Amino acid sequence: MKQRIWIVGASSGIGLELVKIWLLEGHSVVCSARNASSTKELLALKHIHEAQLQIVDMDVSSLDSVKKAVPQAWKRFGGLDVWFYNAAVYEVMSVEEWDVVHFESMMQINYMGAVRVMTELMPLFEGQKSGRWIWNASLSSYFGLPLGGGYSAPKAALCNLAEALQPELYAKGIKMQVINHGFVKTRLTQKNSFEMPGVMEAHQAATKIAREIEKPYRFEIHFPFGLSSFLRLLRLLPYRLSLWLTRKMLP
Ligand SMILES: NC(=O)c1ccc[n+]([C@@H]2O[C@H](COP(=O)([O-])OP(=O)(O)OC[C@H]3O[C@@H](n4cnc5c(N)ncnc54)[C@H](OP(=O)(O)O)[C@@H]3O)[C@@H](O)[C@H]2O)c1
Repeated sequence: MKQRIWIVGASSGIGLELVKIWLLEGHSVVCSARNASSTKELLALKHIHEAQLQIVDMDVSSLDSVKKAVPQAWKRFGGLDVWFYNAAVYEVMSVEEWDVVHFESMMQINYMGAVRVMTELMPLFEGQKSGRWIWNASLSSYFGLPLGGGYSAPKAALCNLAEALQPELYAKGIKMQVINHGFVKTRLTQKNSFEMPGVMEAHQAATKIAREIEKPYRFEIHFPFGLSSFLRLLRLLPYRLSLWLTRKMLP
């Protein structure tokens, strides 16, 4: 069935690949990012899929920007079936590299950005009495790993919020879903100097996401199997064992 989808964080990497897939599948897509309207890949797609694609600039770290963008995204196709939250920033920091500005921006974009958008969207989805919210979190939300805490903590908060919201939203006809996936080659992970286990190409990850969200409703979508099973196990182990293992991961 053709869907009206709003993707926030659509200008590069996984988001941009999802946009391409959804357009080819015939869905109507609203694309947002800070400078979405000057992103050449999105402009090229707009040229081909004029009627199916709307570009709306939005900086999720600014409530004013979110308040301006939400009605535009909602009205373009007369409501939304799916709101896909994909925006994030990422910095790896050892204790020696700590920078509070990075901690703040990861919290502002990876967690508070979703909160800003959802509070504006809620009355609209509530009125519509149907829809789906899909938040792209990360497998890093399962367990804090060395040097990655500034990124994984807001992702863990996002998952925890999604769990808390699911029952209330479900009662209102809105399905809440989270995606926890592993490493994907994008500009986000370009800065990783370590070997990324199970790393995927952005198109491969987007194809997997697009296929998984078409399946019957499940709260969580997670992949790849190997990394998600290992991190899940880490969460289940007693801390003395899990932290012994993560100490071994220190560079
Ligand atoms: N790559 C991985 O290994 C990996 C693993 C697990 C989860 N994820 C998650 O997958 C999602 C996509 O990441 P990616 O790897 O594809 O990275 P990416 O290419 O850097 O994409 C991030 C997107 O977020 C947008 N964004 C950043 N700050 C924003 C802001 N203030 N307001 C609005 N949009 C903003 C970016 O657009 P602008 O900069 O143009 O605003 C971009 O479209 C993220 O949620 C990430 O945490 C990635």
